[in-house]
Amino acid sequence: MIRNSYCGEVNETRIGHEVTVAGWVYRRRDHGGLIFVDQRDRSGLLQVVFSPEVSTAAHELAHGLRAEYVIKVKGKVRPRPEGTENPSLPTGKVEVYADYLEILNESAPLPFMLEDEDTSEALRLKYRYLDLRRPEMQRNLFLRYRAVKSMRDYLDEKGFMEIETPMLTKSTPEGARDYLVPSRVNPGHFYALPQSPQLFKQILMVAGMERYFQVARCFRDEDLRADRQPEFTQVDLEMSFVDIDDVIGITEGLIKAVFKDSLGIELNPPFIRLSYMEAMNRFGSDKPDTRFDMELQDMAGPARKGSFKVFLDALNSGGRVMAICGKGMAGLSRKEVDNLTEEARAFGAKGLAWIKIKNGFFDSPIAKFFPEEALNEMKSILQAEEGDMMLFVADSETVVWNTLGRLRLEFGKRLGLIKEGWNFLWVTDYPLLEWDEEEGRFAAVHHPFTSPVDEDAERILTGDVTDKKLLSSLHAKAYDIVLNGYEIGGGSIRIHREDVQEKMFRILGITQEDAQKKFGFLLDALKFGAPPHGGLALGLDRLVMLLAGAESIRDVIAFPKTAKAFDMMSGAPSNVEQKQLRELHIKLDVVAEEEK
Ligand code: AMO
Ligand code: AMP
Repeated sequence: MIRNSYCGEVNETRIGHEVTVAGWVYRRRDHGGLIFVDQRDRSGLLQVVFSPEVSTAAHELAHGLRAEYVIKVKGKVRPRPEGTENPSLPTGKVEVYADYLEILNESAPLPFMLEDEDTSEALRLKYRYLDLRRPEMQRNLFLRYRAVKSMRDYLDEKGFMEIETPMLTKSTPEGARDYLVPSRVNPGHFYALPQSPQLFKQILMVAGMERYFQVARCFRDEDLRADRQPEFTQVDLEMSFVDIDDVIGITEGLIKAVFKDSLGIELNPPFIRLSYMEAMNRFGSDKPDTRFDMELQDMAGPARKGSFKVFLDALNSGGRVMAICGKGMAGLSRKEVDNLTEEARAFGAKGLAWIKIKNGFFDSPIAKFFPEEALNEMKSILQAEEGDMMLFVADSETVVWNTLGRLRLEFGKRLGLIKEGWNFLWVTDYPLLEWDEEEGRFAAVHHPFTSPVDEDAERILTGDVTDKKLLSSLHAKAYDIVLNGYEIGGGSIRIHREDVQEKMFRILGITQEDAQKKFGFLLDALKFGAPPHGGLALGLDRLVMLLAGAESIRDVIAFPKTAKAFDMMSGAPSNVEQKQLRELHIKLDVVAEEEK
C-alpha cells in the first residue's frame, strides 16, 4: 500500500506517531518559510506542514505543489500550536510534519475551484470527476450506497430474491415515451429500454418466485425536471399471495431500515394514509407536503349565497369553488396580487379572486357580490383573521385542485411555513381510470395492470366498456408513498385474472389484436395459474435526494444528464457513422449538424 492511514483518521490519538498518507492537494499556503498543505482524500482533510528544518528536499518540492496534485507524504503527527486548532475538522487538533514528499501525479490548472459555490452546473457536469471530489458529492454517493445496502439487507432478511430482468425488451407502458434500440439482425425491428420492470416482475410471480426485488435502471423519454432523469433507478419489488396492507407493511419496514442505517433516524411507521380524494380536497395534490397547513377549503356554500357570476357559473356547470387563506398577505400591493393572478393562470386557472381582511373590512373587488353573512362564513371556514387574504379559484375540480395546490406550495415556501420533519404518508384509494380529454378515452391512473378493488372486478367483467359513469366510479388497489411533497414510490395489487386483464385492455381502447401483439405474453402467462400478487417501486434517486437534503436528483447520481438529456462529460447523445446506420437499416430524416 502507498499509505498506512486515511487523512481524515489522523487525530490526537496518533500524536507522536509516524504516518504515511496519500491524497490530493486541496490548498497550499506559504507562511514565513513554512508551507502548509491541506491534503484531502475520501475520508477528509489533514494539515501537512513542510519545514526546511525537517526536510529541505520535501520543503523544496512542496514549493511546486498546485491544487489537485496527487501526493504521498510521510511524517510525524504533532499537536497544532495553541490558537491554530480547527475545531470543525476531526483532524483539527493535529498536523503532520512532513519528512518525505512524493508527487504521484500532477494536475493541469483546474477549470473551477472545487470549493467555489457559484460554479455553473454545466461546468460541474462537464468535469464531473472533479465535481465528485467535493466532500458534499462524496457524502451523497456514500449515502446512496448505504441506502441501497440497507435495502438489500432488509429485503434479503424478508426472503426477497434479487433477479435481473432484461434491458433490451418490449415497451412497458408507464406513461412516458420509450427509448428505442434498433436491432441489426432483425431489420426494421426495435427493442425498447424498460420504463420499469413491471411485466417481467409480474411474470416472475407467475413463475413461482414469490418474493422478487431488483435495483433496476429504468428509462423514460419525458420532459425532465429537478426530480426526473431519463434514466433513473427504482428499487422494485413484487410479492405473491398478498394484499395492499402486506406491501405497505414491507415498504414501511424497508424505509425504516434505510433511515436507521443511513441517517441514524428512528421512524415510527405505520405512516398515515390519505385517500386520493382527501389528499386532493385538502392539499390539491396527490403528493401533499404536510409539513405545513394552509389547506384548501370548499366554498360552494357561501359562494351560492352571492351573485358573483364566475363562482355561480362554475358551480352550475359541475365545477367547484375552493379557497386557501394567505396568512398575513392582506398587505400585498395591487401589482403583487396581479402577479399571483398571472401565476394562477399559468397553473391553468382562468383567474384568481381575492378578498383581503383589512382594518376590519372585506377589501376586494368582488366583496360587493356577497352579503355580509356569506363573507363572514368564508372567513370562518378559512379561519382567516385580520391581515389575511382569502384566495379563490372557480373552475373544474381538477383545475381548482391543481391551481390552489400549487399556490399553496408556493406560499408555503415564500412565507417560510414549511417545518422541519420527515412527513411520510400513503395515498390510497385512487380512481382506476381517468378520462383523457385529448385522446377521447379512458386511461389508467397507474398502469393497465393495476387491479380494481374486489367489488369492482365483477362490475368490470359484467359491465359495458363504454359506460362512462361506471368507468369513472371504479377504484384501484393502488398506493403511492409520499415524503415531504415528493412521490417517492408507488405500486399496486395487480390483475391476476386473464379475463379481467383482457377487459381492462378493452376499456383502455386497446383492441384484442393490439393487446395480443403488445402484451400477448402477459395474457398467456395469466392463463397458467397466476397467483394473486402485488408490489411497488421506490424512486431511489428521489429518496436519496431527500436523505441528503439535496435540491436535485442530479446531486445524488454519479453521472446525470442535463434537462435536454445530454451527458455533458461524454457528449452523449452524438452522431454515429453512416456505416453503423446502414448496418442498422436506418436512414436519417434530419440534416446533419455539419450540413446546416
Ligand atoms: P412509477 O411510474 O410510479 O411506478 O415509478 C416509481 C417511482 O419511480 C420514481 N420515478 C422517477 N425518478 C426519477 N426520474 C424519473 N423520470 C422517474 N419516474 C419515476 C418515482 C416513482 O414514484 N411499475 C410501477 C411500480 C409498480 O407498480 O410496482 C412504476 O414504475 O419516485
Ligand atoms: P372578472 O369578472 O373577469 O373581471 O373577474 C373578477 C375577478 O375574478 C378577477 O380578480 C379575476 O382574476 C377573478 N376570476 C376570474 N375568473 C376566475 C375563476 N375562474 N376563478 C377565480 N377567480 C376568477
